[in-house]
Amino acid sequence: MYFSILLLLLNTVIIGGLAASQDCNVLAEIFKEYGLETYWELGTNECCNAYKDFEYPIIINCNQDNQIIKVHMADLYLENKPISQKFCSLNSLISLELMNNGFSGTMPACLTSLTTLEYLNLNDNDISGSILSDIGKLTNLKELQLSKNSFSGTLPESLGKLKSLTVLYVDANDLEGSIPNSFAYLDNIKSLDLSKNGFSGNLPSSLFSLTTLEHLYLNNNEFSGSISEDIGVFAALTELDLKNNDFKGAIPSSINFLQNLEWLSLANNYLSGEFPSIEKLKYLIYLDVSNNDIRSMPTSLKALPYLASINVTKNNNLVGELNLGKEAEECLMDTSKVCVRGGSCKGNIKQCTGNVEENPTDTTKNNNNSSNNSSNEINTDDDSCWAFIYGYPCCKGKSRNHVYAEDADGEWGYDINKKSWCGISSYEEIRNKYTKGKESDDCWSTKYGYSCCIGCTNFATTEEGSWGIERDNWCGIPSYCKQ
Ligand SMILES: *[C@@H]1O[C@H](CO)[C@@H](O)[C@H](O)[C@H]1NC(C)=O
Ligand SMILES: *[C@@H]1O[C@H](CO)[C@@H](O)[C@H](O)[C@H]1NC(C)=O
Ligand SMILES: *[C@@H]1O[C@H](CO)[C@@H](O)[C@H](O)[C@H]1NC(C)=O
Ligand SMILES: *[C@@H]1O[C@H](CO)[C@@H](O)[C@H](O)[C@H]1NC(C)=O
Ligand SMILES: *[C@@H]1O[C@H](CO)[C@@H](O)[C@H](O)[C@H]1NC(C)=O
Repeated sequence: MYFSILLLLLNTVIIGGLAASQDCNVLAEIFKEYGLETYWELGTNECCNAYKDFEYPIIINCNQDNQIIKVHMADLYLENKPISQKFCSLNSLISLELMNNGFSGTMPACLTSLTTLEYLNLNDNDISGSILSDIGKLTNLKELQLSKNSFSGTLPESLGKLKSLTVLYVDANDLEGSIPNSFAYLDNIKSLDLSKNGFSGNLPSSLFSLTTLEHLYLNNNEFSGSISEDIGVFAALTELDLKNNDFKGAIPSSINFLQNLEWLSLANNYLSGEFPSIEKLKYLIYLDVSNNDIRSMPTSLKALPYLASINVTKNNNLVGELNLGKEAEECLMDTSKVCVRGGSCKGNIKQCTGNVEENPTDTTKNNNNSSNNSSNEINTDDDSCWAFIYGYPCCKGKSRNHVYAEDADGEWGYDINKKSWCGISSYEEIRNKYTKGKESDDCWSTKYGYSCCIGCTNFATTEEGSWGIERDNWCGIPSYCKQ
């Protein structure tokens, strides 16, 4: 009796001990496959300590139970070896990085059993075949990086199940097809890089659901069609690269809502027409619209305090001015039909002479004479928001729930169904904001019995001053509009 209990205990200890060193044993087999030396006593858990403080090229971390949670192996020159199936036995892995090791072959199908994975990086190898169609099983994945390989085929729909994904890089592969509809469910995505592949088709509505995006690289593909007004939903975007595609048509005016944009390239497409106002893109540093058919650039460029580099070469019908702020240093242009005003651009550029030519199309807001009569377009029941002043409707229903942009004029929403921008902030809110702490006699028009406008749209100018129309009444344009 006692003896058998003792035996049982002994058994448990042995089995427990074996189980604990299992991950290090698996790692030893992987190392052997790759001809790497093992710097720990085989059969022990010492692999957990041996590579703990290594930074490069190998890092191994374990949890308290000696299970391996992190394997980083980089630059190991394992030319033409496949990714070992044995990695799939390390079933507590949270982070697996196998960058630039010269791996070839396909992605082992068993990798999708590593459901605790949060970080998977296979960048810079020569892995071919398709991305595993059940990759969506890795529901804890936060980063998936498959850049610079030879992956082919299409993006699996199941990617849309990776709801925690913040980073998805599949650039520089041989992928094709369109952006899956399931992408609409990537609620946390911040960086998406599909560049340097053979992707095609229009930009689908699923893409425009990704309002958390900060970096979007779709360059060097075969995307086509026009760029939708929906592009304005990317209010958090800092970098947008659409160059080297087949986009055609006008650049949507809603690009003015990408208020955090620092870097924008639309080069080498078939975009045409007037470049819309981008007065709200206060952080823009780099703008490349070269090799398109843009006819004019907006005068609002001058209002962009950080814009340092602008490339407008190879737009054969481009005329007029580049009206630049002080920061502008690099101005690339190849036609004498365009001149530069302001900036500190070096090189062979033509400086403008004479007075500033105001570009009448240089505003997204409705500033045309048909809205002189504001009741033509605006339902007076609907003037609780400020945006009606600019000819935009007030947000209704669901479109009130999400603020896509905020500027000096208040909060903007976007009505996905109507594909139209709308105002959220109420007229009173904005009025209070503008008049806060100011004496009412700040407004020049009150002495003529008219209140002060909150907007800046000028409908008429008299000897007394500039007049606007708000809520069907004439009002005086306030002095802040001149700044
Ligand atoms: C400007 O655009 C042209 C045409 O796309 C391109 O060849 C050139 O490299 C660009 N210049 C810079 C400095 O980006
Ligand atoms: C003025 O606005 C009306 C209606 O919004 C539009 O149809 C017309 O084309 C605009 N005119 C110009 C010159 O922009
Ligand atoms: C409206 O039209 C008149 C002449 O028809 C023009 O002088 C004025 O500048 C126009 N105003 C706006 C805001 O476009
Ligand atoms: C705008 O409308 C008013 C009448 O509401 C008219 O007196 C004025 O001439 C119009 N302005 C322009 C520029 O058409
Ligand atoms: C403004 O337009 C409305 C509807 O088109 C019309 O009934 C009204 O008389 C117009 N008002 C002015 C001042 O032109």
